[in-house]
Amino acid sequence: MKSANLIHNVEKKVDSVLELMTIEEKIGQMNQYNGFYDVTGPSPVDGDSKTKYDHLKNGLVGSMLNVRGVKEVRAVQKIVVEESRLGIPLIIGFDVIHGYKTISPIPLAEAASWDLDAIKKSASIAAAEAASAGINWTFAPMVDISRDARWGRVMEGAGEDPFLGSKIAEARVKGFQGDDLSDVQTIAACAKHFAAYGFSESGKEYNTVDIGTSTLYNIVLPPFKAAVDAGVKTFMNAFNELNGIPATGNLFLQRDILKNQWKFNGFVVSDWSSIAEMTSWGFSKNLREAAKFAVIAGSDMDMESYAYIQHLSDLVNNKEVNESLINDAVRRILRVKFELGLFDDPYKYCNEERESATIGSKQNNEAVLDMAKKSIVLLKNENQLLPLKKSGQKIALIGALANDKNSPLGSWRLASEDNSAVSVLEGMQKYTDNLLTYKKGADLIVGETAFIHELNINTTNKSEFKEAIDLAKQSDIVVMVLGEHGFQSEEGRSRTNIDLPGVQQELLEEVYKVNENIVLVLNNGRPLSITWADKHISAIVEAWHLGTQAGNAIAQILYGDYNPSGKLPVSFPRNVGQIPIYYNYKNTGRSLPNTDKKMVFWSHYSDVENTPLYPFGHGLSYTSFSYESLNLNKNVYSVNDSINISVNIKNTGKIKGKEVVQLYIQDLFASITRPVKELKAFKMVELKPGESETVHFTLDKNSLGFFNNIGKYVVETGKFKIFIGGSSYTTLEADFELQ
Ligand code: BGC
Repeated sequence: MKSANLIHNVEKKVDSVLELMTIEEKIGQMNQYNGFYDVTGPSPVDGDSKTKYDHLKNGLVGSMLNVRGVKEVRAVQKIVVEESRLGIPLIIGFDVIHGYKTISPIPLAEAASWDLDAIKKSASIAAAEAASAGINWTFAPMVDISRDARWGRVMEGAGEDPFLGSKIAEARVKGFQGDDLSDVQTIAACAKHFAAYGFSESGKEYNTVDIGTSTLYNIVLPPFKAAVDAGVKTFMNAFNELNGIPATGNLFLQRDILKNQWKFNGFVVSDWSSIAEMTSWGFSKNLREAAKFAVIAGSDMDMESYAYIQHLSDLVNNKEVNESLINDAVRRILRVKFELGLFDDPYKYCNEERESATIGSKQNNEAVLDMAKKSIVLLKNENQLLPLKKSGQKIALIGALANDKNSPLGSWRLASEDNSAVSVLEGMQKYTDNLLTYKKGADLIVGETAFIHELNINTTNKSEFKEAIDLAKQSDIVVMVLGEHGFQSEEGRSRTNIDLPGVQQELLEEVYKVNENIVLVLNNGRPLSITWADKHISAIVEAWHLGTQAGNAIAQILYGDYNPSGKLPVSFPRNVGQIPIYYNYKNTGRSLPNTDKKMVFWSHYSDVENTPLYPFGHGLSYTSFSYESLNLNKNVYSVNDSINISVNIKNTGKIKGKEVVQLYIQDLFASITRPVKELKAFKMVELKPGESETVHFTLDKNSLGFFNNIGKYVVETGKFKIFIGGSSYTTLEADFELQ
């Protein structure tokens, strides 16, 4: 009742503001500008900045992005509140993707934790830091499912699976927004990029997307729907086209599905200049037409295209755009501003004391360290090379990334200070009872690194190989930190080759010739193909780009102070040619090899196995687990029954450890072919050595159906399989029938 009253009140308030507004002021609310000059300095006198400044004064800007810090935000808010006619406060947006200043692991890494509470907490810390710096809206979470490691933005999402992706979308939205959006510690979230951007053809950035309806409904859309169900306040559309229609001008996506079917009542912001880009796509003839298509299709706010501010008024006057569409968009935007409490106090996020007490606090650093440890995945550990002994060893640390304080921050960390991460070298130096010596071996990057510029990878200079090889010769163990620089995975960073970049593979092989006791620590924002390493190197640790506390987290894992528990949220291909590769693939008419092994007419490659190098859900521990007694309470169920499933899991190793128990199903025959496996549930258990636990799962019709080709959720009777284990390659299985 109380919340119904609140909603009613907000609606009344929105209406009362709307009534006061001129059409120009309404269109102004739909206009978002990038930070443009030092607002704390003198006002601009000409050019673009002057135009934007005048628009602010005249109440023709609804939102700003990339203005951050209490001082800046207050200054820009003051122009609007004190100088514009109605004083409608700005909503201040920023890409708070994995932390504000205290940086948590990149989103893909966090997804590897499968720890929804930790992920939620990480988002809430990012929100609190950003909110203390004047920001009240983040352009996150990115919930794009992707099966393509060539695409640089894989690092920003939760991987390849719609079920895990949906759970993480929900956790992130709730983490950012909290229980009360008007709390000064919470900010509005934004589910992006709507939709199917993760399926950019050939992994090339900004490319065409051409997927079937089944993939759209069953793989792409579920995490977006989960974000809506979690109460996300905003959506961002996408740079791609989908079946020939740019997402920004896509009425089917934004109106039919999002606003009508899902009843989303927040607003949709365009992606950066994506309205204008519809002309480059060959969809709109000019900016005016782009504005028209975008607003009709349901894009409520224009980020940096200047399309709405220049053309909407004329389009409305000419009756090409109905004013009711403008009212709807503005109502959506004002609603979020009211919910944030900006009308009560436009400066509520502007408090210097809170800013300095919150940003970079000890608790925030402890929390991102915890998140970083949980995000690490132990890919391989033969001969028990890990954990390292804490004393009496000569350890060689090799690789440019081992001594890098910038790269671990990853990309999309625009407010963090450069070089503010703990490097692996610094982390490992704390364990002083060993003799630790560092040699770079080779540079990864030559020259400057920047968010927006191409990187110059070192592909030739091997002059420092010798020092590293000599060191390796004299050491008991070699720890090599290799992989991608933090800026190598992000927007605009597609790769056709996902091997270790530059001369790193060669360095690894040369070091291996003199010392086989190598622990390979990978830094990367996407799956890499490391087939040689998998064959030769005993211990491989996937350490992604782990943020501010990276080096401490990695050192604690290497020395066994923390037992790894991460599981891959993406499949690692054996080579780039296998892409797209994902665990929930479909059977073909010829999935199995012929009995005559030499016959070629089956679904396979001539030069590489069908399986990935490391499957989705894979991740080891310093202990081991056994799974047995998979039980179902019945064998035959009716559609409305609950299916109760249990399995026993035992810690069969020597130390305490955590395991993510994963449950997959297969619907054997259906009116639309179904994947060979689909994740439907998971639970994390922590067990002492020798301890066992019975883990229970309940499935119902919400887990057993699928979306048909007109987007309707259907549950079909028939035979199913259940699989349970510690990865998508689990072997424990049972059958049941739905009648
Ligand atoms: C990205 C968005 C981002 C926006 C604002 C665009 O280039 O695609 O994800 O939120 O810029 O920085």
